[in-house]
Amino acid sequence: MAVRFCCIVASAVLTVLLAGDDGKAIDRGELGKVLQVMPPNGPLWKYGNVVMRRKSAKAGMAPVVFPHWSHRARYTCRACHLELGFSMRSGDTGITREQYLAGRYCGVCHDGKTAFSVRNGDPSQCGRCHMKDTRDLEKRFDTFAANLPMTSFGNGIDWGEAVRSGLITPANSIHTERFTMQFPDKLKVPTKLGTTSPRSDVIFSHEDHFAELDCSSCHPDIFNIKKKGTEAFTMERNMYGNFCGVCHMQVAFPMNDCRRCHPQMSNSTGY
Ligand code: HEC
Ligand code: HEC
Ligand code: HEC
Ligand code: HEC
Ligand code: HEC
Ligand code: HEC
Repeated sequence: MAVRFCCIVASAVLTVLLAGDDGKAIDRGELGKVLQVMPPNGPLWKYGNVVMRRKSAKAGMAPVVFPHWSHRARYTCRACHLELGFSMRSGDTGITREQYLAGRYCGVCHDGKTAFSVRNGDPSQCGRCHMKDTRDLEKRFDTFAANLPMTSFGNGIDWGEAVRSGLITPANSIHTERFTMQFPDKLKVPTKLGTTSPRSDVIFSHEDHFAELDCSSCHPDIFNIKKKGTEAFTMERNMYGNFCGVCHMQVAFPMNDCRRCHPQMSNSTGY
């Protein structure tokens, strides 16, 4: 919720800043101002949590809190978003109790073997997802994060480094190793992006992303597969949650961390 809220605030500020815009890319200083009004995404344990309350509220149940940090340490994005069909837009999957009791979605793993069960029996199990109170989850985050490499934004965890150093080993597939395509040699050299701004210095690594995602996670829905083929690919659109912002506003390290995408920028006030 905190993340959504700050996006709304940023969008409102952007709208003001862009009034009278002549179609040119947003000025770097102004962009900096927008990003400064976005809180650093609230507490670390909340970043990437998806709160689901629509069906729960109607049924008089506490909202469900789905923490990405806990799950992404065990499974790659592709395991859930490709294999199990979870949407990357919160609410879109429309999960129901009937579905997960039939072994779909959360029920694939929350069967009492891989993870605690969704079934009746011990009523205290219900509260592990339908959380009246999130203090326990917050405490578990502190223990979880204690030994992982740190960064300044999002969960405060350097997820890429955690995987590379073997501190976490997320599974690529739920069912025993599914066929995964070989990473194409042709894409080993990172792509320099240069769609709108001549001074842009963003270099995109396919290989880093392939560790977590499939080609179809990004092509063709988010990015055109033709180099420089993605239209209106600007920083503002990123911050509205499009393009890189589909993931880098909600789950992967957030947009505040300018330097990780723009190696020539600093994260301090200067931009
Ligand atoms: C264990 C399963 C699981 C894993 C692993 C997982 N996700 Fe998710 N993801 C979900 C669920 C469930 C939702 C909520 C879907 C809904 O509300 O319909 C979600 C939602 C999202 C959203 C939308 C969030 C929002 O607030 O709008 C994004 C973006 C996302 N995931 C990206 C990722 C990325 C990137 C990774 C890998 C680093 C990842 N997910 C790993 C299950 C998973
Ligand atoms: C791919 C397998 C998988 C899927 C799908 C999955 N989970 Fe989990 N989940 C796990 C595992 C494994 C654990 C940790 C084991 C345990 O605590 O029993 C876990 C733990 C949790 C926790 C406790 C987090 C913590 O670290 O304290 C919550 C809450 C949770 N899941 C909610 C959900 C919800 C809600 C969904 C569906 C939207 C879901 N999970 C889908 C595997 C999964
Ligand atoms: C692994 C996580 C998880 C556990 C454990 C769990 N639920 Fe749910 N439950 C969900 C999710 C996700 C939804 C959909 C949330 C929403 O949209 O509000 C949901 C929705 C519901 C709904 C709304 C009605 C509907 O058709 O979807 C009811 C009622 C419900 N759960 C009851 C229970 C009861 C009772 C228990 C304990 C026996 C339980 N749940 C345990 C994840 C869980
Ligand atoms: C997740 C990666 C990512 C992060 C983090 C990021 N950017 Fe960008 N940025 C991009 C991409 C992609 C483009 C468009 C590249 C292109 O057109 O060549 C871009 C373009 C820009 C531009 C050029 C103007 C425009 O609208 O295209 C500016 C200025 C900019 N970013 C500033 C920032 C600032 C300031 C931050 C941090 C507060 C930041 N960016 C964080 C990916 C990122
Ligand atoms: C995280 C998102 C993401 C994933 C995952 C991804 N791509 Fe891309 N891809 C991009 C972006 C961004 C571009 C640049 C688009 C532009 O310039 O408009 C691109 C461009 C390309 C290009 C043109 C680049 C060139 O140098 O000619 C090819 C070919 C391509 N992708 C193939 C793939 C294949 C094959 C996979 C799976 C192995 C894949 N992509 C996975 C984001 C992704
Ligand atoms: C579909 C989701 C998704 C999209 C879209 C996406 N990324 Fe990522 N990206 C990730 C995930 C997951 C990681 C792993 C690190 C993390 O979660 O913080 C990552 C890591 C990175 C890293 C750091 C690599 C490392 O480990 O040091 C950079 C830089 C990056 N992305 C840039 C971009 C840029 C630029 C774009 C847009 C052109 C983009 N990403 C689009 C999901 C995505």
